[in-house]
Amino acid sequence: MADETTAPDIPTQLEALEREAEAQLSACAADADFNEWRTTYLGRSGKVTQLLRGLGGLPKEERPRIGQLANTVKQRLAAALEAQQAQLRRNEHAEALKAEALDVTLPGEPVRAGQLHPITQVLNEILGIFERMGFHVVEGPEVEWDRYNFALLNIPADHPARDMWDTFYVDAEPVSNLGSMLLRTHTSPVQVRVMEETPPPVRIVAPGRVYRNEATDASHEAIFYQIEGLAVDDRINMGDLKGVLTAFARQLFGGKTRVRFNCSYFPFVEPGAEVSISCHVCSGNGCRVCKQTGWLEILGCGIVHPNVLRAVNYDPEKYSGFAFGLGVERIAMLKYGIDDIRYFYGNDIRFLEQFR
Ligand code: PHE
Repeated sequence: MADETTAPDIPTQLEALEREAEAQLSACAADADFNEWRTTYLGRSGKVTQLLRGLGGLPKEERPRIGQLANTVKQRLAAALEAQQAQLRRNEHAEALKAEALDVTLPGEPVRAGQLHPITQVLNEILGIFERMGFHVVEGPEVEWDRYNFALLNIPADHPARDMWDTFYVDAEPVSNLGSMLLRTHTSPVQVRVMEETPPPVRIVAPGRVYRNEATDASHEAIFYQIEGLAVDDRINMGDLKGVLTAFARQLFGGKTRVRFNCSYFPFVEPGAEVSISCHVCSGNGCRVCKQTGWLEILGCGIVHPNVLRAVNYDPEKYSGFAFGLGVERIAMLKYGIDDIRYFYGNDIRFLEQFR
């Protein structure tokens, strides 16, 4: 019977077709390939369907078995297609991840942050030292009256001591009692302003800008920073001043620093002194920085003059005090070995960046 001889052919052909389809499928690498493959093998006029056209020639009882077999093959191929597509998507995903891969251990792009100016850094360091010794930070005006800058500091008008400060006067009418308006030549007027408003005891440091009408050179600027110090209480004496300034110098320049007091004159203190520290570069042996003297002068100080106490209605029989004034740039220059004050205000980033 012709029908019976063709019947085993269809399963064999199906098997061969399935092998072929699988081989083609494994070569598919893109959505277009899959679409073409689906049309070729599983489509309405695809190869499996075409093969089933021969079903009609089979004996009736054979047809369901072969038909079922063909459906199973179709299902397997459809499942294989799905699996292969899923695999492709997984591969693509893995590749995308790889492309986006981020090495979190690489050092980041540096962010160029700003920094505090070296003078601000030194200023903060100095204030910190005095704050830890119990001094409060206060500020006063940069535009001052003659009365505070000079008169109440025991420097009357026409006193020759005024020659110590080259002053910028403001072109304004003098006011009775207050005198002329000027840019303060030192932070000492803050002493008076604080004592006027506060009964003793007083313990303050006053940072700020001061102005001198002088030519600029390696050690002079017309605008610079000072820090004033003032302590008033009963029985404050030279020993307290020496103790406080020695502790200060050792914190700023190192524990082995020696401190020297030389007599000096400032109208608002009596006695007055200039303070030097042993040169931290050569330990006092003599070098270029200390000009072979072994000593570096860092500030002026003294015991508050009774006339100054009287001027703010403090009783000099009951109270005494010490005061000091230091130039911040000078201290910074000594600390960092800078030989020209003009670097601080030249705005050269190569200089400033060294103080990060
Ligand atoms: N005001 C003085 C100056 O600028 C420094 C100083 C302050 C001296 C306090 C003694 C006491 O030169």
